[in-house]
Amino acid sequence: MNVLSRRKFLRLGLTGSAACITLAGNSAVSSLLPFTPAEVEGPFYPFIPQEDRDEDLTQIKGHHTTAGGEPIYVTGQVTNQQGAPLANANVEIWQANAKGRYRHPRDPNPAPIDNHFQGWAIVKTNEQGLFRFKTIKPGAYPASAQWIRPPHIHFKILKEHYQELITQMYFPDEPLNEADLLLQHKKPFERSLMIAKSGTRYNTIEVFEFSIVLRTTI
Ligand SMILES: [Fe+2]
Repeated sequence: MNVLSRRKFLRLGLTGSAACITLAGNSAVSSLLPFTPAEVEGPFYPFIPQEDRDEDLTQIKGHHTTAGGEPIYVTGQVTNQQGAPLANANVEIWQANAKGRYRHPRDPNPAPIDNHFQGWAIVKTNEQGLFRFKTIKPGAYPASAQWIRPPHIHFKILKEHYQELITQMYFPDEPLNEADLLLQHKKPFERSLMIAKSGTRYNTIEVFEFSIVLRTTI
């Protein structure tokens, strides 16, 4: 990923300021950020090599057609528990296309593959710990006869001296969130950390903010 300027993130609406300091009287009291909850990797982690894994999942290099579906931005900051930004962290995402189909040979969903959707991306955070993807909003898909998974994006974050984190980002105001067996297995506080924040747009495209707090290995 290109190293993105802080100004660019600010234009996207992400301040990058994890609120970890509160004031009590005249003295600053630090409070620790909650760790981002982990989640299962799921069965569709990509393994087939692909050349293009850059931050724009809507456009595969050399294709003249872009991915189908609603384009969105996903942006956030990777920090430690004290709120310090973690630069050069490896942020990997994979997801279903707009119809709810992964580009994975063992996905049983009969929904069509989108040959113009990248589906997988790996970027590095910049000096402020910030990352950004342009992608499409994933579709829901059946996990079983009784269980429809809500739209979500899988994340894997790697950073030296921090524990690997595998998790899933959900979207706000999705009715399927209320019935999802994985998300509802979490405590309410954990659920709130796994559902992205929205409310801003960049060039008319909706921006979802999903910030990540890692545990140290020591
Ligand atoms: Fe999934």
